[in-house]
Amino acid sequence: MPHSIVIFGASGDLTSRKLVPALYNLFRGGSLPADTRIVGYSRTPMSDDAWRASLRDTTAKHAEGEPFDEKAWGEFAPRIHYQPGDIGSSADMEQLKERLAVLEGAAAVTRVYYLATAPQFYEPVVAAIGALGMASEENGPRRIVVEKPFGTDLQTAKRLNAHLHTVFAESQIYRIDHYLGKESVQNIIALRFANTIFEPVWNRRYIDHVQITVAEEVPVGRRGAYYDGSGVLRDMFQNHLLQLLMVTAMEAPVKYRATAVRNEKVKVLESIRAYEPAEVAAAGTRGQYRGYLADPGVAPGSQTATFGAIRLEIDNWRWQGVPFYLRSGKAMSCRTTQIVIAFRQPPLELFAEGSRGGGSHREGNRLVIQIQPAEGIQLHFHTKVPGGGMKLRLTDLEFSYSREFKGRLPEAYEPLLLDVMTGEASLFARSDEVEKSWEIIDPFVRAWSSGEMTPIDLYEPGNWGPASSDAWINAQGRSWFDICPVL
Ligand code: BG6
Repeated sequence: MPHSIVIFGASGDLTSRKLVPALYNLFRGGSLPADTRIVGYSRTPMSDDAWRASLRDTTAKHAEGEPFDEKAWGEFAPRIHYQPGDIGSSADMEQLKERLAVLEGAAAVTRVYYLATAPQFYEPVVAAIGALGMASEENGPRRIVVEKPFGTDLQTAKRLNAHLHTVFAESQIYRIDHYLGKESVQNIIALRFANTIFEPVWNRRYIDHVQITVAEEVPVGRRGAYYDGSGVLRDMFQNHLLQLLMVTAMEAPVKYRATAVRNEKVKVLESIRAYEPAEVAAAGTRGQYRGYLADPGVAPGSQTATFGAIRLEIDNWRWQGVPFYLRSGKAMSCRTTQIVIAFRQPPLELFAEGSRGGGSHREGNRLVIQIQPAEGIQLHFHTKVPGGGMKLRLTDLEFSYSREFKGRLPEAYEPLLLDVMTGEASLFARSDEVEKSWEIIDPFVRAWSSGEMTPIDLYEPGNWGPASSDAWINAQGRSWFDICPVL
């Protein structure tokens, strides 16, 4: 069946930097379903050809991997169409409907609506689609992709869900989190559930704690106007970090199918301990990089956190007593997303230097899952240094994607777009999942923006957050694994 991808917000950044390059890469690699057409909709008046020409340049710049292939683009470009129009104008939307009818003809078509607009247009687009009967599945499946941010708190997320459900069934809605499209994130599921050796140790008996870090080297820069109202909790924690936590902590689904996978993920969120209001401030630490206030769009004296770390407790049989530390920030030492499974110490320390057992504190074993940019896995363990005596050193076993597999790793949007086209929803968030995520993050947002908090700690760009972040985790008998990826 042919596919139409209708992009609302066609002239925006997401479309030119991510969506079209991903579709082009799929086409070039031979995985884009035959007879896929892309229809862009936005206010800028433009012809099909003008949009194609502009996308050619942005795609050449942003498509990752191999050099831009002019011939492949030449074959891909005729699939791209543009319809100028205003989301708020029913006459314009009617014209879009007519254009789609002309392009698609009488054949049944799988049609995907992609909300790549600013979030305030989500509801008007959905309302217009509903009013024109464009969600009806009489002539093939109709799906809608909703980008982040999905609301700004629990209340707005519930409202958006309710609004979507007035027009679309839950099974038609694909809430995207591009972290789940990353190869190395999907590989966590493979690592855990396609192997037997990890499962016996993947629990409170062997694991001391888990660290999930998404560090970015870049500052907020030009995105100040958006970021200042959002901060790191809404921008990164409610979505990406909680997704990483869910795939790390979930039980094995009975099948690798959307409902089973999503049920297990939601159970993790349901098991996360709700802190009493008085406990929230101590369960996290926050910071702002020096210079943030000078970024365009940032309010004078803003207390918005550009760095945050929180501790979550999962109260279930597998994880009770194993803290999950989540940390993210801008303008940090390097770009790295990693999950560190920190194992317990052996019950008895036999090889402490200068003593016969007991006493000295040695680093525990670690499984480090490098999500990006150096995708791979390292297992850290102690080895005897050759020579006399029992001197030990931490060494590791390494798996690196780039050494093991030839060619580029697909960009996150590529597999996700294909999944929407084929109706595979495992890697998309369900309504209860986003609502639960907000329920977990909202108390931190409230606490961090309350007037009772001490002024935010500053950190120099290029650090792992403020000094208070180390003090905070050290006070809990642990330390951050602050290593830039070397794989
Ligand atoms: C986005 C955030 O969702 O994710 C950005 O809004 C952040 O602030 C980005 O930079 C990080 O994505 P990635 O794939 O580069 O790690």
